[in-house]
Amino acid sequence: MSWKLTSPLLLLAWMASVCSARDRTDLLNVCMDAKHHKTKPGPEDKLHDQCIPWKENACCSVSTSQELHKDNSLLYNFNWEHCGKMEPACKRHFIQDNCLYECSPNLGPWIQQVNQSWRKERFLDVPLCKEDCESWWEDCRTSYTCKRNWQQGWNWTSGSNKCPAKAVCRTFESYFPTPAAMCEGLWSHSYKVSQYSRGSGRCIQMWFDPAQGNPNEEVARFYALAMNAGAVCCETGPLLLSLALMLTLLLLG
Ligand SMILES: *[C@@H]1O[C@H](CO)[C@@H](O)[C@H](O)[C@H]1NC(C)=O
Ligand SMILES: *[C@@H]1O[C@H](CO)[C@@H](O)[C@H](O)[C@H]1NC(C)=O
Repeated sequence: MSWKLTSPLLLLAWMASVCSARDRTDLLNVCMDAKHHKTKPGPEDKLHDQCIPWKENACCSVSTSQELHKDNSLLYNFNWEHCGKMEPACKRHFIQDNCLYECSPNLGPWIQQVNQSWRKERFLDVPLCKEDCESWWEDCRTSYTCKRNWQQGWNWTSGSNKCPAKAVCRTFESYFPTPAAMCEGLWSHSYKVSQYSRGSGRCIQMWFDPAQGNPNEEVARFYALAMNAGAVCCETGPLLLSLALMLTLLLLG
């Protein structure tokens, strides 16, 4: 092969590897830049109670994992019981949601930049396994709330969230007619309910048995790869195309 042919070929191969490798690692095994997250994931032997599944590799500290189990945790001064007692069966899902949010190093593909005083990044449309959303909704339908979106619109004058003036306490079921309305609405679309089931490798599990490893690692790899394939095609596509054209011209010439 002449140098005319090999040099663009090498360039092409190099570009493809560099672009995809860099992007992929950016999305895997990362912690979000937010209020309580560690800068990098790592082992945390003493994680508390429902957060234990993440102890091999976590974005949360031990104290964060303890605090997030409390009713009026100091993490956000957020009160789940703004409309009276929340059923324990319901509350455990909110605790698990907190563990996933604070501890998971596998949500990189869904991190977005935001302009909020208390965090620089958020999760958007994390594909939550449908059963995890359904059981959350099922266990909460008889508890009470006064709002559909828990991320904004509260009265914070007392220091913790109180129902705003015209918001009436009703059952979860009346505010959230479907599981998706709840899981997607609560935190401004941090979750998107997946069509996929637990164990499919295509949706994020809020609950898992750590004895089998963390199933969300594979899920993050799958979506990171899919997103990179898209990004590489769209961003470097025109460049690759012109290189291919150049090659053809060289071959013909
Ligand atoms: C955040 O807000 C500041 C000031 O309003 C603005 O200059 C900046 O571009 C915003 N950043 C993003 C990511 O929206
Ligand atoms: C917020 O709550 C306080 C009492 O904690 C009340 O005095 C005030 O009117 C409320 N503000 C709004 C906008 O509802």
